[in-house]
Amino acid sequence: MYGTAELHPAAHMARLGTESAFEVLARAEALKRQGKDIINLGIGQPDFKTPPHIVEAAAKALRDGHHGYTPAAGIPQLREAVAAYIQRQHGVAVEPERVLIMPGGKVTMFFAILMFGEAGAEIMYPNPGFPIYESVIKFSGATPVPIALLEKTGFAFDAETVLGQITPATRLIILNSPANPTGGVVPKAEIEKLVKGLARHPHVAVMSDEIYHRLLFDGREHATLFKYPELADRLIVLDGWSKTYAMTGWRLGWSVWPKSLVAGAERLAINCHSCVNASAQYAGIAALEGPQDSVEVMRTAFAERRRIIVDGLNALPGVRCVEPGGAFYAFPNIGGTGKDARTLQDRFLTQAGVATIAGTAFGAHGEGYLRFSYANSAENIREALRRIGLALA
Ligand SMILES: Cc1ncc(COP(=O)(O)O)c(C=O)c1O
Repeated sequence: MYGTAELHPAAHMARLGTESAFEVLARAEALKRQGKDIINLGIGQPDFKTPPHIVEAAAKALRDGHHGYTPAAGIPQLREAVAAYIQRQHGVAVEPERVLIMPGGKVTMFFAILMFGEAGAEIMYPNPGFPIYESVIKFSGATPVPIALLEKTGFAFDAETVLGQITPATRLIILNSPANPTGGVVPKAEIEKLVKGLARHPHVAVMSDEIYHRLLFDGREHATLFKYPELADRLIVLDGWSKTYAMTGWRLGWSVWPKSLVAGAERLAINCHSCVNASAQYAGIAALEGPQDSVEVMRTAFAERRRIIVDGLNALPGVRCVEPGGAFYAFPNIGGTGKDARTLQDRFLTQAGVATIAGTAFGAHGEGYLRFSYANSAENIREALRRIGLALA
């Protein structure tokens, strides 16, 4: 007879966090199954379909027999297509050998953090920020050092503060603009100051998460870290197809690594996932090389919805929302309602049937805020605002 198992998972498992958006999604789906009418402003994914020419490229790849493993770093045509895209988009030449194809944007952050994180190391990350940064930093054994992002600066970091937090133990600084969960965009001048200051700290690497780089509003231009050749030997850029081409479920991303780190990242890929789904990689080529009008169609729709949600939130009692410059999130201050973020998240879901995410899911500096993803129809956003208004009355 077997007794009850007595297992001993490694201590780092207790340090691994999560992404609440997936938990809220599960709760929202469960409520839907009970017949409740739920509007989901929780999950951060475009509510558009992947453009048909991209889907067709994947189907063709399967019909053509691309069923096997590919090189771990990605098929050469796709790595070249990414390098050409970076040249077109950012005006910067990147060797295809430094481009790695990843199963989504997330895997790049996992690898970059594991590459630098260990006990005694410090890693800086935006807070509030994408929750996986802090989670994986803790998992790696490194000390997470938050870069506090404040409403009064439109949730952009202040370069002096970031530079002032660097110690001899700092290994990596994570940046994200346009940002999740705030929609904040870091002004170019601040990035320039940071890059200049980093000259004094050659032991510090930078991972720039630019996954929302095509989602900017009011004529803003993306300030990419690629623009600084002096940083190229310590810069990792995370990007991908998920948000730009409505491809979150395809699990396809890319990253650019300094020459000295490419082999290590590729080895992590071989140990982890072998290679990315072959047909998705062909879809990735079609996305980058095909017509780009769908990107602008989505961006325009998001811009309209941003107007509706920001104005609507600002009209609610106790709620104040700064204008997000990019991505598809609004991050209103809910301090005036007298409720904390988690209480409001639960009340909106259960009483109003509106899924949102408490700011605390994005770090301690998110208390007093809620994240609304406006990747939903204008009609649903209006209805969600109406219901939330009633729940706050
Ligand atoms: C800032 C940020 N980086 C990376 C990702 C991960 O993207 P992917 O779905 O391609 O893994 C997300 C997804 O929400 C994100 O918000």
